[in-house]
Amino acid sequence: MALPLSNLVLSLLTFNGYSCRMFPSRTAALAPISGNKSRFPGLDPAGELATRKMVIAGVLSKSNQDSMSSILTELERENVQQEEEDDADDSDTTAKQPKKRIADCWREIQGQDDWAGLLDPMDPLLRSELIRYGDMAQACYDAFDFDSFSKYCGSCRFTRRKFFDCLGLTSLGYDVSRYLYSTANINLPNFFKKSRWPKVWSRNANWMGYVAVSNDDTSARLGRRDIAVAWRGTVTRLEWVADLMDFLRPVSADKIPCPDPNAKVESGFLDLYTDKDDKCRFCKFSAREQVLTEIKRSIQQYPNEELSITVTGHSLGSALAILSAYDIEETGLNVTADGRIIPVTVFSFSGPRVGNVRFKERVEGLGVKVLRVFNVHDSVPKVPGIVFNEHVPEMVQKMLEWLPWNYSHVGVELCLDHKKSPFLNDTSDPGCFHNLEALLHLIDGYHGKGQRFVLSSRRDPALVNKASDFLKDHYLVPPYWRQHENKGMVRNQEGRWVQPERPKLEEHPPDIHLLLLQLGLTSDI
Ligand SMILES: *[C@@H]1O[C@H](CO)[C@@H](O)[C@H](O)[C@H]1NC(C)=O
Ligand SMILES: *[C@@H]1O[C@H](CO)[C@@H](O)[C@H](O)[C@H]1NC(C)=O
Ligand SMILES: *[C@@H]1O[C@H](CO)[C@@H](O)[C@H](O)[C@H]1NC(C)=O
Ligand SMILES: *[C@@H]1O[C@H](CO)[C@@H](O)[C@H](O)[C@H]1NC(C)=O
Repeated sequence: MALPLSNLVLSLLTFNGYSCRMFPSRTAALAPISGNKSRFPGLDPAGELATRKMVIAGVLSKSNQDSMSSILTELERENVQQEEEDDADDSDTTAKQPKKRIADCWREIQGQDDWAGLLDPMDPLLRSELIRYGDMAQACYDAFDFDSFSKYCGSCRFTRRKFFDCLGLTSLGYDVSRYLYSTANINLPNFFKKSRWPKVWSRNANWMGYVAVSNDDTSARLGRRDIAVAWRGTVTRLEWVADLMDFLRPVSADKIPCPDPNAKVESGFLDLYTDKDDKCRFCKFSAREQVLTEIKRSIQQYPNEELSITVTGHSLGSALAILSAYDIEETGLNVTADGRIIPVTVFSFSGPRVGNVRFKERVEGLGVKVLRVFNVHDSVPKVPGIVFNEHVPEMVQKMLEWLPWNYSHVGVELCLDHKKSPFLNDTSDPGCFHNLEALLHLIDGYHGKGQRFVLSSRRDPALVNKASDFLKDHYLVPPYWRQHENKGMVRNQEGRWVQPERPKLEEHPPDIHLLLLQLGLTSDI
């Protein structure tokens, strides 16, 4: 009988209060536990077990190796059994493609040619890059403090320098250079999280994501230095959608230098991006000012290197991703001091519409590349503008031109369908359809329209249930399994259970004023 091995391995991943414990990287620790044709059908199995065994053994500390070896024995037994039982129906799994190197084709992968020829059949490199950036967006959820009983509710659980290490994502090879905050004073009451206790780290700010830059090794592998921005969205609660007022406002009204006064964006998104609060330590600069200055700084830091800017986000984070990527080009940050163009790409996951047709035209006209990935059953990408959108016949659009709700999606779409995955339960929960981990799972199994669902990487299907109840029961992966050990409570010296204090949170870098001046975003000295 096979053990519910994934449960055992997952239990290694619980968190130890604030000071995160180092644990094996996500890929190693969460490598698929099944042999071929096993608990997880559709997994690309070929010869992975041996590698996996090495990886797991290699990263575990000595004290863990004993207990792990029994898991491995169990794994081997399981695998042998499978080999014996093996029949022909799995034999058409992914043929090994000749290896392309990302360094040689990163411009195509970043959308230089609007992903022509890369989506159907799905290009393996593009698939793995999508998952890589999806992991960066997911990191925003995994790191966010949602607990309204926490003094630090609404902040990031980890310090900037240890961010990826704490999430088991060291192998991404990026360093977070800046956290992004936004003021919660705007009219999206279901989006922000506030502590029950008002005297907290910040009354009005919420952590919104981060800017990270690829380190030297990763840059060498990627063929360029990548400046990545990830924006936080909402996990499963979809109430914030109802808060969108379906009201478009010109981008130029918020000092974004757009020459078209009719390019408009949903006002809630624009508020989130541009509002600030002078009395708030973390949001006395708007999210916009924070992200633009940090990108400016990063560009200045690597004057002679090939650069790319990649912006990602899930759900509402995707709206911010599109808006900020657009702003980066509109502000001229996509051109280096010596006149080279820095490509700006958005990998958008489950995003709503952001603005009107004129906004879409401006975004695409500037050359921002947007790849929009979504589950066809998810309702969030259908808002705002459920009724009036780009699918309405042109004649009707003309008639509706004066109406305030004239929304349009931006960029190239990659539409997935969770019903294609044999792992997933046939639920009717809209939160599941919108879930980012589930979407990344769908990307992993996608090979093109009409093609069979076969997982192509070591990405663990158990991740789907991290914050949802979507996997079929017989995988024995508990729903909503991800939690912090003892909900972050630790024992102090007197033996009492308390919430640990955290190191002082970083505010804004001292040179932010200078950078704002250089960008022309402020005139006072
Ligand atoms: C299952 O594993 C065995 C041994 O590793 C291999 O010979 C067989 O081709 C695999 N089946 C599939 C469908 O990959
Ligand atoms: C880069 O910025 C300039 C100036 O804002 C803009 O005209 C151009 O279209 C942008 N994008 C590309 C890909 O060149
Ligand atoms: C609404 O959509 C039409 C058709 O795409 C477009 O021409 C028009 O400018 C849009 N109206 C507004 C107010 O943005
Ligand atoms: C699907 O989910 C429902 C509700 O949680 C559950 O009762 C059912 O057993 C699940 N089906 C499978 C195949 O896992």
